Amino acid sequence: MTQTIAPQLDIERIRADFPILQQQVNGYPLAYLDSTASSQKPAVVIEAMDRYYRRYNANVHRGVYQLSEQATEAMEQARSKVARFIGAKSAREIIFTRNTTESINLVANAWGRSNLKHGDRILVTEMEHHSNLVPWQIIADATGAELDFMPIDGSGRLALDELPRLLSEQTKLVAVTQMSNVLGTINPVKAITVEAKKVGALVLVDGAQSVPHFAVDVRDLDIDFLAFSGHKMCGPTGIGVLWGRKEILQAMPPFLAGGSMIRQVGLRRSTWNDLPHKFEAGTPAIAEAIGLGCAVDYLSAVGMDAIHAAEQQLTTYALEQLAGIDGLTLYGPPVAERGGVISFNLDDVHPHDVAAVLDRHGVAVRAGHHCCQPLMEIFNAPATARASFYLYTTQAEIDQLVSGLEKCKEIFR
Ligand SMILES: Cc1ncc(COP(=O)(O)O)c(C=O)c1O
Repeated sequence: MTQTIAPQLDIERIRADFPILQQQVNGYPLAYLDSTASSQKPAVVIEAMDRYYRRYNANVHRGVYQLSEQATEAMEQARSKVARFIGAKSAREIIFTRNTTESINLVANAWGRSNLKHGDRILVTEMEHHSNLVPWQIIADATGAELDFMPIDGSGRLALDELPRLLSEQTKLVAVTQMSNVLGTINPVKAITVEAKKVGALVLVDGAQSVPHFAVDVRDLDIDFLAFSGHKMCGPTGIGVLWGRKEILQAMPPFLAGGSMIRQVGLRRSTWNDLPHKFEAGTPAIAEAIGLGCAVDYLSAVGMDAIHAAEQQLTTYALEQLAGIDGLTLYGPPVAERGGVISFNLDDVHPHDVAAVLDRHGVAVRAGHHCCQPLMEIFNAPATARASFYLYTTQAEIDQLVSGLEKCKEIFR
């Protein structure tokens, strides 16, 4: 029996869907605790992509023959599934990109370059992934806009009481992560959006860690842009999503230029295709889009609320167990305000050494700055080790993490 403390999920059935989990690493059952970096993929997703390549591989949107029509239909169905998954009004608002990073760069370049000017302000938070910070630094430099930062408190919560001071008529955009990939903090995006709208600012949400782990509805949140990655939500690498409000996307100039994104091309001037194609230059990631559509079906069938509840129970258990390890520093807020991501440091052992010892015990965790160097500086930790959970994580894997950490203590005593 696979141990579980999360009765919402039929964990044995779920684990049977993921071929990669049925293996040993260094003589131990694999405990994959790095889903924040990239999730594992169920067989149905792998098979959907395999089926495309074996049975109807062809380029989309241009062919009039059967295979191309089949490929186009499968890709457009995937777009509709993604739209429904996040509560978008129309599938035309779903732009397929490579990943969260490209989605944010698209907004920074296409919207930012044509809407920001000297004196405008962009509000981000101190806990942003480099993907939701560096593009804004570059665009601020290019346009003369300035960055402001929403600070965090010692537990890794956003200091919301600072919002009125930080927001002004000059604030044109608030770019915030819905869930921190280091601290696990789930940010109150809805409340932040209410404040941002009062000064007329748009809101971009980095959903890289939220969309895979709990139900996200763009209309309920009342936001303007949402960016996320397929590979963190049981889908393949190479496919990401930018959702944007139709009227904003329509008013934006293109990001990348070339095939598919045009309506009419002359030697000196061209005009642009309708949404979503205006933002999808060149041949898209067809198999990957189909794989993502399948991943969305898979997650929806399991149920996003059940996934979130199970992860919270696992996180509660993990935090309790880890708190019992002498010399372990835990980062982030209490469980009610976080998702299944736990960053920690063990005495003065370097997190890379911790991760290497854990690997010898079959436990895969990440170590480093997690693409959040400014956040690391705030916590005065050049790096942390990080364990993260998903729908296939078991209590036994958390126990394996804890016993691996005890071994680590013995080795470095
Ligand atoms: C919060 C957050 N934003 C953005 C990203 C970037 O995602 P990708 O590398 O898929 O573009 C990540 C990846 O870890 C993330 O955790």
